[in-house]
This record gives sequence, structure tokens and C-alpha cells, in this order.
Amino acid sequence: MQNNPDQFSSKIGFVLAAAGSAVGIGNLVGFPVAAAKNGGGAFLLLYIFFVVAICLPLILAELSLGRATGKSPLGAFREISKGHKGWVLAGALSLVTPFMIAVFYSVLTVWLLGYLVLVLGGKLDQLATPVYFGGFITSPWIFAYLAAVIAMVIFVLKGGVRDGIEKASRLLMPMLFIMLIGLAVFVLTLPNATAGLKFYFTPQVDRITWSVVNGALSQAFFSLSLGMGILITYGSYLRKQDNLVQSAKMLACTDTGVALVAGLMTLPAIFAIYPNTNPSELSDSSVGLIFSFFPNIFMAMVPKFGYAVSSLIAATFFLLAFVAAITSLVSIIEVPVAALKAESKKTRNAALGFVIAAVSIGAIFSALSFGQVKWLSEFAFYSGANKSLFDVLVDVFYDTILPFNGLLICLLVVWQWKRHNMAAEMLSNNSSSGWLERYTHFAIAFWIPVILATVFVITVINKFMS
Ligand code: ALA
Repeated sequence: MQNNPDQFSSKIGFVLAAAGSAVGIGNLVGFPVAAAKNGGGAFLLLYIFFVVAICLPLILAELSLGRATGKSPLGAFREISKGHKGWVLAGALSLVTPFMIAVFYSVLTVWLLGYLVLVLGGKLDQLATPVYFGGFITSPWIFAYLAAVIAMVIFVLKGGVRDGIEKASRLLMPMLFIMLIGLAVFVLTLPNATAGLKFYFTPQVDRITWSVVNGALSQAFFSLSLGMGILITYGSYLRKQDNLVQSAKMLACTDTGVALVAGLMTLPAIFAIYPNTNPSELSDSSVGLIFSFFPNIFMAMVPKFGYAVSSLIAATFFLLAFVAAITSLVSIIEVPVAALKAESKKTRNAALGFVIAAVSIGAIFSALSFGQVKWLSEFAFYSGANKSLFDVLVDVFYDTILPFNGLLICLLVVWQWKRHNMAAEMLSNNSSSGWLERYTHFAIAFWIPVILATVFVITVINKFMS
């Protein structure tokens, strides 16, 4: 067992690899954008509530399903439901979801790599101007960066579980965390940063709307890599003696800790760099805004440290953010690769080649949807506006489908697998049952599915039918 290269070598190895998957663009970019957009403190409160009350039990459910069946999502759904067609279809959705997420996630990863290269080329000041981002994402250079990202993903995934995913995460995750804390401390010394702290930590309950609820829930799912089959797949690489409950708690704490610190760095920085920020204007925040905003944080260091040192600090930040994105991207792509390998009896390399080719084509289309190709840029029309292919993928697979996949997991556990089997799997290392197992046992059958179903229906109506 100990020497099986397709299993994690230790509990800490698993936690770091799972944290490598969880900590990514969602934490560093998605969380601050969502917090700025959705009312700061109100969002934070809901986010933490969702992580503890909904996501932790679902992390446990996904890991248990994966370890009990030893399979990827499709195989796990098929085995648990004894081949029932409807459930196999639900399992297939857990494969389509990471595939589609990989398509837009690779574009975001490409942007981080591009920014890293440009900062190293001495262009930090240009990146800090609001117009630079638009020109950058539509330049042909994007495809060179995409080729580099794809090559790196292949390199890590060819290494397999222990040599690839686990090793990369072991070194880089702690470095990222330390760097983020350092940046947050620097930002907090800037004048007017306290206005951002106030916005971040004051829960204005009157700002909680359906879109804030949806924003907090989908962000929590995305950030924890839930609902995309990753934790089922990683669960299948866990050993029976590993403590699932402790691993789940460590994963949730690490991921949430990184997101909170990223928010602590970004929101006070917005108020420090733009002292006239009106909190209500932040509801228009977007991923693009954050990309032009990060360079501004480093430009604010120039008076203190000089241009060269500030650029070096910026380059280190973009390097670590890029690595965090790569470790997430490989875990997202690992799901369809593992499933294809198991389903088609192909070799791992053949399955990897096939999935990588398909993701690359999707990523090229999605990278071309920012005005370069008309039909991709106006791919759909809803909510009174034209939406690009990139927007549609984010709206459907990030905002809507992730919590829906969570609902399907609850129903599979409760109706098909039965909760006592999940409990037995959770405690297979002979640990005794604690508050989280007892809470999961209860909540997964009652209010978690009710909340997820309600948010799903309201999101579909608000997003696509209004
Ligand atoms: N969980 C990954 C992230 O937050 C997908 O970026």
C-alpha cells in the first residue's frame, strides 16, 4: 500500500495535494472579487456559514464515496446506484463539470503566466493602467502562454499522483501562504486601509440579497473544489487508515484561511489606493478589475522599496499565484483523465492526451471570446445582455452547476448508498465519531439538500430567465 504511486504517501501528503487543488484562482482572485461585489462583511459571514454548515459535510461525503468505491465520479455513481441510468447520468455531469471548468480556468491561468512574464520584463507600471488588461487578453501572445500552460499541466499529470501532484504542492503551498500574509501586513500599513477593513468585516445584513447568497455558495464550492468530482477522485487515492474527518477539516481550514488572507490583502488595498472608493461602486467588480488592480498594490510599494524591488515582489506573487493555479488546474483535469482511463481501458497517457487535446480546443475558443471572434463573443443572450463563451461557462458551471452537483451527492448518499454506509467509511480508521460526523449524518438528509435545491432554482430563474 505504502508504495503504491497512485495513492497519497501520507495524510499530510493528501492534505497538501487537496489544498493544492483547492487553493487557486478562486481564493486569490475569485474570493476578493466576490467579497467586493457582494457587500464585504455580509458576504464573509455567509461564506463562512456555508463552508461549515454545507461544504464540510459534502467534502466528507465526496471523500467517502471516492474511498469506498475506489473510483472516479462516474464509476462511483454507477457502483453505488447499481448502474441505474439516471444516476450514471448524474455521475457523467460530475465529469462534464470539471472539463468545462478546465476550459475557462486555463484561460485565467494563462493571464497569470502572462502577467508574471510581463512583470519580469519590467512592465509593472504599464500593467497597473486600467487599459492594459483589455489589450493583453486579446493579443496573440495569449496562445503562446496557453501552449506553455498546457505543457506544464502535461508534465505534472504525467508524474502521477505522488510524484506529480503531491510533490508540487508540498513545497509551494506553504510559500504562497507566507507571501500572502506578508503582503496583507504591508497593505494594512497603507493610509486609509482601515476603510477596507471596515467594509470587509462589518456584516451589513441589509445587503444580503439572493445574488449575495448565490455568490457566497458557489464561491465556497468552487474554492473548496467541491461538486467537480475532484474530491471523489482524490478520495479514491486515500488509504483506509487515513482519517477522513481530520483531512476534511484541515482542507476546509487551509482553503478558507488563504481566501480570508487574500481578502485581507485586496479589500483594504482598494480603499488605500483609491481613497474615494464608494462601497456601492464595488458591486461592478470583475475578474478583469482585479487583474489591473494587483499591479497597483505593487506600484504602491515603489516609494518605499523602489521600482526594481517592487517588481521583484510582484513577480514572486504572480509566480506563486500561477503555481497555485496550475496545481488546481491539474486536479481539475485529473478527473476526466482518471475517468476516461477507467471507462475506456486506455493507458493513462492516451487518456491524458485525449483530454488535454479537448481542453486545449475549448480553451482556444474561450480565449477568443473577448471580442476577437464575434460568435464566440456573443455566444448567448440572457439577463438582457450578450454573453461571451467565457461568461456562459462561468455562469453555468461556476455559478449554477456546482451547488447542483452537491445536491446530487446528497441524494445519492441518502437514497442509494444509505447514510450508515457513509458513516462506516468515515470511521474506517477506527476513530470515534465526533461532532462533524454526527452533524453530517443529520444535515445531509435534511437541510443541506433543501438549501441547495432552493438556491439552484432561484439562481436559474434570476440568472437565465430574468
Ligand atoms: N478550487 C480551485 C480554486 O479555488 C478551483 O481556484
